Amino acid sequence: MSQILTYRIREVDGRDDEIADVLAELHRLTFFSGASIPAFDRGHWWLAFHEAAPVAFAGVIPSTHIRNAGYFCRVGVVQRHWGHRLQLRLMRTMEARARRNGWSCVVSDTTGNVVSANNFIRAGYRMYRPACPWAFPDTLYWQKRLISGASSHSTHSKRR
Ligand SMILES: CC(C)(COP(=O)(O)OP(=O)(O)OC[C@H]1O[C@@H](n2cnc3c(N)ncnc32)[C@H](O)[C@@H]1OP(=O)(O)O)[C@@H](O)C(=O)NCCC(=O)NCCS
Repeated sequence: MSQILTYRIREVDGRDDEIADVLAELHRLTFFSGASIPAFDRGHWWLAFHEAAPVAFAGVIPSTHIRNAGYFCRVGVVQRHWGHRLQLRLMRTMEARARRNGWSCVVSDTTGNVVSANNFIRAGYRMYRPACPWAFPDTLYWQKRLISGASSHSTHSKRR
């Protein structure tokens, strides 16, 4: 049975050099050379800490393909901390931010990554086919429509 560990997730400022270094180090530890290091000064970034140590990260940027949408561009958990649903927790935190931004949906993609794809399913994403697919022939594209706090109230309020 896996041990129960406590994690704390915090939104961080990727424009801060020290934070960008921490994000870059986590990126190296989780993606190795499999993906280019993104520009951490764009979008929103989070770190997950176990005690004082950063052990996972995630980021979302405005989508360049879909209007008024976020593109969930990176998530990585160091191997020692796999299996504690940190991707899912980071995605939930990211979606709260996307809603506050007023974005109508979040899109993302996975390529040959069953663990990550299962987390998109757990988080309520659906596969879709973008008008202009931007990655590889075997890439799966994911999207989740978001209902902002304001519009969900107005949608559900009824005059009786
Ligand atoms: C994808 C990733 C973020 C998932 O991490 P996570 O949130 O800890 O994963 P989960 O908690 O959902 O793990 C579910 C199960 O898969 C296992 N698992 C997690 N990542 C795994 C991996 N890369 N390879 C094999 N098994 C993995 C977990 O140990 C757990 O097993 P259990 O059910 O037997 O306990 C993590 O694997 C990672 O950082 N991978 C490298 C970077 C990457 O691929 N990012 C996503 C790009 S789309």
